[in-house]
Amino acid sequence: MTTSLLILNGPNLNLLGTRQPEVYGTTTLPMIEKLCIDHAKALGIEVAFQQSNHEGALIDAMHAARGVHAGVVLNAGAYTHTSIALMDAIYSTELPTIELHLSNVHAREDFRHESYIAKAAIGIICGFGAAGYPLAMSALLDYVGTDG
Ligand code: DQA
Repeated sequence: MTTSLLILNGPNLNLLGTRQPEVYGTTTLPMIEKLCIDHAKALGIEVAFQQSNHEGALIDAMHAARGVHAGVVLNAGAYTHTSIALMDAIYSTELPTIELHLSNVHAREDFRHESYIAKAAIGIICGFGAAGYPLAMSALLDYVGTDG
């Protein structure tokens, strides 16, 4: 079975392109999805790309990923800094998860330095803009291997 990864995006990321471009750049979420699909092809794997503004829907997506995807790249947006439930979803599903941020959250406001996701994630990539997505996919594939 071909290895498949889930790229899961949280609140307000649907507005990328016009949302604070000085912080998040001008690349839109559909452009990032295309980047991920192209990178998956290059890696010889499959990828699914989702976005929700709702915490529960993100948790449901994690649950649904069990047995379907070998791992998750999660940009949880602001839920990163608040959501114990999303952290528990990573623990509960035991899906290898990489925390991802477009911006360097550690160079920003203090409240962005805290992450519940980081406690459960295998690693973190932040500060590389849209380029972080393919980076995270490669790192995750390296972690899960090609027969997952
Ligand atoms: C973000 C960083 C978060 O702090 C913020 O709330 C976001 C986007 C990023 O990709 O840089 O919504 O996850």
